[in-house]
Amino acid sequence: MKAAVLIKTGDAFGAFEIREVPKPIPQNDEVLIKVAAFGLNFADVMARRDMYKEAPPIPAILGYDVAGIVEAAGTAVTNVKAGDRVTAMTRFGGYAEYAVTKASAVAVIEDGMDNATATALTTQYCTAYFAAAEMVNLHKGDKVLIQSGAGGVGTALVQFAKYRGCEIFSTAGSVAKLDYLSSLGVQHPINYKEQDFETEIKRLTNGKGVDVIFDAVGGASVKKGFRSLAAGGRLICYGAAEISNKNIFGKITTALGFGFYHPLMLMMPSKAIIGINMLRIADEKPEVLQRCLEAVIRLTKEKVFVPTIGKVFNINDIAAAHDYLEKRKSMGKVVVQW
Ligand SMILES: NC(=O)c1ccc[n+]([C@@H]2O[C@H](COP(=O)([O-])OP(=O)(O)OC[C@H]3O[C@@H](n4cnc5c(N)ncnc54)[C@H](OP(=O)(O)O)[C@@H]3O)[C@@H](O)[C@H]2O)c1
Repeated sequence: MKAAVLIKTGDAFGAFEIREVPKPIPQNDEVLIKVAAFGLNFADVMARRDMYKEAPPIPAILGYDVAGIVEAAGTAVTNVKAGDRVTAMTRFGGYAEYAVTKASAVAVIEDGMDNATATALTTQYCTAYFAAAEMVNLHKGDKVLIQSGAGGVGTALVQFAKYRGCEIFSTAGSVAKLDYLSSLGVQHPINYKEQDFETEIKRLTNGKGVDVIFDAVGGASVKKGFRSLAAGGRLICYGAAEISNKNIFGKITTALGFGFYHPLMLMMPSKAIIGINMLRIADEKPEVLQRCLEAVIRLTKEKVFVPTIGKVFNINDIAAAHDYLEKRKSMGKVVVQW
């Protein structure tokens, strides 16, 4: 089979090569999928930049989400069968014509759902659901700040917060993205390039702060976010995009920028900081991933979740797809199809 193999870390162009590689064989609890389309995630950019320690060593096949048809299922698999159209979260290996993954990370998709849309449902929507429904339980009227709201996970978080009746504040870095946020129902879009989000949150909440913040930017954004929380507030940290394009000194500055937090600093003002790593959840709590995936599929059927497809690239343009995501041009999901 063919796969888009990461052969070199660094810039997107020149990093990938389409190669002939062995077709994977599913174990008893695994599913083999003939991949029609796979999704990109920002973690793929981090892996290409050699900043993602869990990524396999090069030459590597990256890829967390695929959509396609089940080719074969292991003997212990009960939730899907050969011939089913599915979406699946892969633990790498998604940038290929065939991918294997645990059955707990696979779900049948609705008739009529296109493959591109299906790729958004696994990593990005499951991360958003896990964060917003399980790690914090958003309530009607909660004031919620969603950083990078126009991205893949960001779009899912906005849709879920809207569903729960929250007042949504969300940041993005361009006019087009702010318009997009407004179209999703964000009441307070904030252009972080023109306005300091901490000052804006203070102004818009009469100094009280927000109840929940979702942050995958990292660094000083976290420290400022912590200061922007109201009593009872929760700050969900699930990424560090800020570190992706930095040299070693920039990385250290960004890492220090997160700040240091003693439990007393959480207890006295009654604030919480929560970390999320979906790969760890998929590895160690597959039943939780399965529960999230089932909820995402149900909420998609109910039209609560409506993925936005930012752009679909052909496999031969995988480098351009990576570059597009890295240069912050995308809104919603970036997809590559065979
Ligand atoms: N912890 C987990 O398990 C988990 C799972 C999935 C995703 N994530 C994290 O969630 C974040 C979003 O992932 P995604 O796949 O949905 O990507 P995405 O949001 O679609 O794309 C990344 C966006 O991040 C914003 N951004 C902020 N700082 C950036 C920087 N220094 N360089 C590049 N972009 C920057 C940009 O939006 P603006 O133009 O608006 O700034 C950009 O469009 C990523 O940080 C990712 O690593 C974590």
